[in-house]
Amino acid sequence: MNNRRYAHITGWGMAVPERKITNKELAEMVDTTDEWIVSRTGIRERRVACDDETTASLATEASLRALAVANLHPADLDLIIVSTSSPEHIFPATACIVQDQIGAVKAGAFDLSAACTGFIYALNIGAQAIRADSLENVLVIGSETLSRMVNWKDRNTCILFGDGAGAFVLQGSDEPGGVLSAVMRSDGSGGDLLNLPAGGSRMPASLYTVNEGLHYIHMNGREVFRFATRVMAQATQEAVAAANLTMDDIHLFIPHQANQRIIEAAARGLDIPLDRVMINLDRYGNTSTASIPIATVEAIELGRVKPGDRLVFVAFGAGLTWGSAVAQWSGPFPSRYKIRPRRYRWFARIRSLLSRLRRQIEGLIWGRGNNGI
Ligand code: ACO
Repeated sequence: MNNRRYAHITGWGMAVPERKITNKELAEMVDTTDEWIVSRTGIRERRVACDDETTASLATEASLRALAVANLHPADLDLIIVSTSSPEHIFPATACIVQDQIGAVKAGAFDLSAACTGFIYALNIGAQAIRADSLENVLVIGSETLSRMVNWKDRNTCILFGDGAGAFVLQGSDEPGGVLSAVMRSDGSGGDLLNLPAGGSRMPASLYTVNEGLHYIHMNGREVFRFATRVMAQATQEAVAAANLTMDDIHLFIPHQANQRIIEAAARGLDIPLDRVMINLDRYGNTSTASIPIATVEAIELGRVKPGDRLVFVAFGAGLTWGSAVAQWSGPFPSRYKIRPRRYRWFARIRSLLSRLRRQIEGLIWGRGNNGI
């Protein structure tokens, strides 16, 4: 008898802001041109969050869509992982805000910081918890509003990044398939190549850090480019070999959407044609850890992913970090009931309000000054 557990991807969803910024608009803000941006990166436009859109609100929207596809009740989730480099706060975790907003009443929740590679890390950790038979249902989310951390006067970085979120639901089953393998790598010696120097405990926010622009993304583009072209093919090959597969067994490659030239170099290194690679960075730019789930959702909508297909996800990012995962696509598990997670959101809101109210009343009864002792 096969007692092994497998972590299947049964739900997927994405959310991007409505507001677009085209290369032409950027050329009015910094010394650049549409031609330069397209030829060096492949990006034509990116989405940018409005004032009322945040990393958690985009993550919540993507999650509700993913739960609807999986037909899974938020209360059945065991764990929520939000991978992000633009969390709402240093703490509490953005994952806890999402947990509250969707009403995942019995889920643990934490944020994961591995920059653009974060979604691969989150997928692997969620899948491993299911494969170890420790958890049953995990929600992994990549969500970013890096537009709030970009210096819109710096042409080296502001042309690259965009906002958005994507989410997968992972569920356990005895049926073979789902996430088959993953590799996670890092090299902290390259941390200074791509960083956001201020705002953490090393350099707390001050008038000086704001005046010096140290709360913006700083990047050595050429070095990051060289690193990325080196590791993308290598990580893919490692993950494919770990799944006991060859490149010919892979139906679609879904790389981190940072730069068309990096993706093309990786495809050349792997000797695969570009029609087996999903690319949508022309419309979203680099949405960091959200780029792989967003590209996956669009690949499904385009009919490029079918149940049984084997996919490779591969990413690189600040840290430095890089990694890859191989998955056999499952689709939602059959279910007799239709779950509508969006409707449940109202209960989640009321539950959240009641919890806050209960805490206020308890504070009044027990007193706030002595911790209730
Ligand atoms: N418009 C016009 N000229 C520009 C622009 C711009 N937007 N940006 C830079 N230039 C200039 C530079 O100043 C330079 O001029 P110089 O030769 O007079 O000094 C020239 O163009 C060439 O600059 P390079 O940096 O060599 O250009 P390159 O071809 O490397 O492209 C780019 C730059 C697009 C940033 C590329 O290096 C890249 O994509 N690197 C990877 C970045 C990346 O993926 N970062 C995200 C990592 S994922 C994460 O963790 C968030």
